[in-house]
Amino acid sequence: MSSFLVWSEEYATGVEMIDGDHQTLFMMVNALHDALERDGATDQLPHLFERLSDYVNGHFGREETLMRHCGYPELDAHIGKHDELEKALRKMLVEFSVDPTAFPTADLMDFLKNWLSNHVLKSDMDYVPFVNEHLASEA
Ligand SMILES: [Fe+2]
Repeated sequence: MSSFLVWSEEYATGVEMIDGDHQTLFMMVNALHDALERDGATDQLPHLFERLSDYVNGHFGREETLMRHCGYPELDAHIGKHDELEKALRKMLVEFSVDPTAFPTADLMDFLKNWLSNHVLKSDMDYVPFVNEHLASEA
C-alpha cells in the first residue's frame, strides 16, 4: 500500500464513526493511486473509482445526519461543500467512462488529495468541537 495520502493524528476528529470513514477514504484513494502506478491497472480503475465515489456519498450522508442530529448551525454550508465534491466526482467519472485513455488521472489524484486533506483538516474540524460537545452532553 502506498503512502500517497497518510493518515495522522492531525486528521482525527475524535468522533469514531467519522474517523473510521475518513481512514477508509484515505485507504481507497491510496488504492486508486496504487492501481494507477501499476501497469495494466486500467481494468481495475473504473471499479475503484466508482467504489470511491459511492463511499464518498455514503460518508457524506452519515456526516450530514450526525451534524443534523447535533443541531450544527453551519449544516447547510457544509452540505454545499459536500455537493460540490459529489458533482466534481460525478463529472470526472463521466469523462473517464467516455474516454479512459485520455483521462487526466494525475489531475484526479491531485484533486482528491487536496480536497480530502483540506476538507478534513479545515471544514470538518469546524464542526468537531460543536458535535463533540453535543455528543458528550448526551452521554
Ligand atoms: Fe465533511
